[in-house]
Amino acid sequence: MKLAGKKIVLGLTGGIACYKAAELTRALGKAGATVQVVMTQAATQFITTVTMQALSGNTVYTDQWDARIHNNMPHIDLTRDADAIVIVPCSTDFIFKLAHGACDDLLSTLCIARPFGMPLMVAPAMNVEMWQNPATQRNIAQLRADGIQLLGPAAGDQACGEVGMGRMLEPDELLAEIVANFQPKLLAGKHVLVTAGPTFEPIDPVRGITNLSSGKMGYAIAQAAREAGAIVTLVSGPTALDAPYGTNRVSVQTAQQMHDAVMTALAQHRQDVFIAVAAVADWRVANASTQKLKKSGDRDMPQLQFAQNPDILAAVAALPGRPYCVGFAAESENLLQYGAAKRVKKNVPLLVGNIGHSTFGQDDNELVLFDEQGHKNLPRADKQTLAGQLVAEIAARIR
Ligand code: C5P
Repeated sequence: MKLAGKKIVLGLTGGIACYKAAELTRALGKAGATVQVVMTQAATQFITTVTMQALSGNTVYTDQWDARIHNNMPHIDLTRDADAIVIVPCSTDFIFKLAHGACDDLLSTLCIARPFGMPLMVAPAMNVEMWQNPATQRNIAQLRADGIQLLGPAAGDQACGEVGMGRMLEPDELLAEIVANFQPKLLAGKHVLVTAGPTFEPIDPVRGITNLSSGKMGYAIAQAAREAGAIVTLVSGPTALDAPYGTNRVSVQTAQQMHDAVMTALAQHRQDVFIAVAAVADWRVANASTQKLKKSGDRDMPQLQFAQNPDILAAVAALPGRPYCVGFAAESENLLQYGAAKRVKKNVPLLVGNIGHSTFGQDDNELVLFDEQGHKNLPRADKQTLAGQLVAEIAARIR
């Protein structure tokens, strides 16, 4: 419930992407937000107020003269207890109106009349030529200058059949942006590199050795760091998870590939923080077969030989000018003792311990942070909550 207690005024303007606003309304509600929908006349050509009222559970307003508001001032009253205004979709015309301070209908007047400092986010949605038109780009530049936040747009297939910039973000991407807007920017502008997931060490082209890591903790940390304003690179072993919106994911399979991808990321840009969450295989099969191994008889077993994988965390921690390094330890017992010892052995300022087999694949976890001062528990919670707490702990330590 990342938006628990938040009230969002969701403005809809005319565009085919209005159908995505319906799904966003549900997602906002599921995240705990109260949604107050306001629609322009043009928006009602694309989706009905009935739909939006049913999904939001609140009366939908379209008219600045609506007498249902007791003082007849919906342009004032609707935002006074709100936390943000989000315009989804935001048409070319409405961008023009925002850029020029127009107030000729309820939604535009409500935006102009919003309390000072209230976030206004807009998700442009339009044909590629309309987006690229210099007049639109002038207006967009004005919105940016005025502190209005742009959510997208993205490039891709458009409802008109053309392809290009102007496609509205998807509802889950919009939700991620709205959630991020409410997070304190503890890592603003910092570069954060995260490893996550298991590795897969081939035995032959169709078989391999892996582990039960789902990647959920690492992905949650990547998302939390991004929400905190960081530029995040996520080097991930094979997982079933979508990359958190706004992160740069590099997909790898083996420990060696993960090591190389981490070193490449470090070479491309100085990283402020490195968080090694991946459950990296300690060994790879040294005599992996290029062809599928055949069963040739009951007694004839393949003979696997192992070679040690590089320790990615140790390699990064040994670099001159290293980033702030955070290691993870998945133990099965004696966490307090092993965790403290592992932090020293790994030569990192912060080590995060958990009981491996009780967290792999789960949605919640329990962490113990080990640093120079001692240890600190982060009690059982869902991984996204813990990730936010961990990011705050890291931010406090690098400040
Ligand atoms: O030594 P152990 O594998 O328990 O250490 C775990 C920590 O080291 C984790 O942060 C893990 O991501 C990292 N690690 C690594 N490369 C390896 C093995 C572990 O980066 N080859």
